[in-house]
Amino acid sequence: MQQVLANGNKRKQYVQKMFNDIAHRYDLLNHLLSGGTDIYWRRKAISKLNISPDSLVLDIACGTGDFAFTTQKLKKSNVIGLDIATKMLSLGKQKAIDKKKSDKIHFLAGDGENIPFADKSFDAVTVAFGVRNMGDVKKNLNEMSRVIKPGGELIILEFSTPKLKIIKKLYRVYFHKILPGIGKLISKDKEAYTYLPVSVDYFPVRREFARWIEDEDFYPVNFWRLFNGIAVIYKGIKK
Ligand SMILES: C[S@@+](CC[C@H](N)C(=O)[O-])C[C@H]1O[C@@H](n2cnc3c(N)ncnc32)[C@H](O)[C@@H]1O
Repeated sequence: MQQVLANGNKRKQYVQKMFNDIAHRYDLLNHLLSGGTDIYWRRKAISKLNISPDSLVLDIACGTGDFAFTTQKLKKSNVIGLDIATKMLSLGKQKAIDKKKSDKIHFLAGDGENIPFADKSFDAVTVAFGVRNMGDVKKNLNEMSRVIKPGGELIILEFSTPKLKIIKKLYRVYFHKILPGIGKLISKDKEAYTYLPVSVDYFPVRREFARWIEDEDFYPVNFWRLFNGIAVIYKGIKK
């Protein structure tokens, strides 16, 4: 697993295959394993966005579209969802049809490390639980910075490790021991939910990651811890 995480290209292929394989169970497992908290976290993150109705938002690593649907609902914006896993996108497209939102939310296959849009195209860029999965996180940040208009906003929702020792201990038992078992049982993928906690451990923690965002031409950059830091909302304004 460590070898996969350390090699950008290998990691991208691994992640793409993994999400295509678990796509049909992704939404169910998300809500089940988080006890529905993911819905609250998404709403909280999007509530930090300060954009006007009809703004154009790019949702990177959109998966089956839950963050994009939340943005459209709360901010009345137009959203383009971009992802490398086509099976996740197919489910997102079907959800848009079912919700009668196909005119407001569009799904596109593409790489967050090589975004297929011109410079300064978007009023905001969002990513939920996606940055951590990139082969090259800094390249992804650089690309997101490129496509946001000056003064536009970046919102990132990502897992992290909690601050308090006791919560950290409980979190480690749940994330490393319980979650992989349930994930494997329901998704039938033996590695997907083992990859999740390992990839969180591998990811820079709050202040360090906020600095990575600042380094890509965002100021100010703020972050908010959710549930003692199990998840974090980062917000940056493009200079
Ligand atoms: C944990 S899912 C998050 C999906 C969605 N944002 C959500 O909140 O439910 C991570 C997603 O990142 C996508 N992903 C990983 N690397 C990517 C890349 N380089 N470019 C675009 N999407 C990527 C995966 O295919 C997967 O759908």
